[in-house]
Amino acid sequence: MLPVEIKKDIHWVGAVDWNIRDFHGYSTYKGTTYNAFLAVDQKIALIDTVKKPFSGDLVHHLYRVLGDPKKVDYLVVNHVEMDHSGSVPEIVDLVQPEKVVCSPMGKKALLDHYGREDWPYQVVESGATLSLGRKEMRFLETRMLHWPDSMFTYFPAEKLLLSSDAFGQHWSTSERFDDEVDFSELMRHSAKYYANILMLYSPLVQKLLGEVRKMNLEVDMIAPDHGLLWRGFPDRILEAYDRWSRHEVKRKAVVVYDTMWHSTEKMAKAIASGLVREGISVKFMCLKENHRSDVMTEILDAKAVVVGSPTLNNGILPTVADMLCYMKGLKPVNRLGAAFGSYGWSGEAVKEITKALEGMKMEVVDPGFRVKYAPTHEDLKKCVELGEKIAQAVKGHEGA
Ligand code: FEO
Repeated sequence: MLPVEIKKDIHWVGAVDWNIRDFHGYSTYKGTTYNAFLAVDQKIALIDTVKKPFSGDLVHHLYRVLGDPKKVDYLVVNHVEMDHSGSVPEIVDLVQPEKVVCSPMGKKALLDHYGREDWPYQVVESGATLSLGRKEMRFLETRMLHWPDSMFTYFPAEKLLLSSDAFGQHWSTSERFDDEVDFSELMRHSAKYYANILMLYSPLVQKLLGEVRKMNLEVDMIAPDHGLLWRGFPDRILEAYDRWSRHEVKRKAVVVYDTMWHSTEKMAKAIASGLVREGISVKFMCLKENHRSDVMTEILDAKAVVVGSPTLNNGILPTVADMLCYMKGLKPVNRLGAAFGSYGWSGEAVKEITKALEGMKMEVVDPGFRVKYAPTHEDLKKCVELGEKIAQAVKGHEGA
């Protein structure tokens, strides 16, 4: 990819990672991008770098835009996670910047990662500004979105917000802007990104959106560090973040399970039938076929999470344990839960799942349903009834 001028004298100089398929546990079926930006004025600022294996792409872009990368005066590090800071040591060595600009926590994190006391740090707190000549950068600390060091860089005159991890998507494309791609696919990638990266920080997202509203920032382009830049529809992603961070849910249930000899699967189907009969939209997800991060994407707007596992070695299947552990970390709130599963002799799985759901502060709507070995028609009827019971609970919580 070549550099792209996104605003007058501000260029995208990032890298496209077409082939990555796992991003610390998140399935990236369509790759990702590491966005970095170059603002050219009397002073020249590079904002963020790229993951280390892609440093050559970034350096090549600097040559194309500037002729000589050493013209970069300021390196702004909005976020120290290595997908953005991995190339910082190489870039500092190459361009010898006058300043390495970062938040107070950013300096600590850079020292913890790279141990370079000798870099020319300029620590900026929320509200600090740095002039490039005609252009000005304003900084806004956004702690825990995604790490303690995270911050945004805002160009007031250009109405451009460089939002680091926030508002991103893991999606590699040749296009750079939201209005150049299929919008529904863009929103699906955005939802997956929110569910798997930011859901647990929802209270902070709410706080940040409130602060941004109060500051009355004029923004007509939001440029995250991953995926497409929001040029055509910045309001749409802001609205979606407001909705997702308030845990706004639909009349929807996710039935997620794994199965050994299809008994738990038969139960899952019967429970789903009960839910559907009562007007609940169901996502039916076997963990042999569905990645944990896709399940979380569906949980993002689902009111109920119904989890099934047969008992294996006095516990739950490893795939289901993995799912519960992952879900717990992402902290979905105000959800309803229920467990089910088959067993042979000891039958601990349902109890363990129920305990895990309670540990996530879900309202468990049923003690859980177990079936010995293989469900009979009578058992399946009870599963349908369990689905109906969960559906009533979903509807009973609407407007609450
Ligand atoms: Fe894209 Fe938190 O790094």
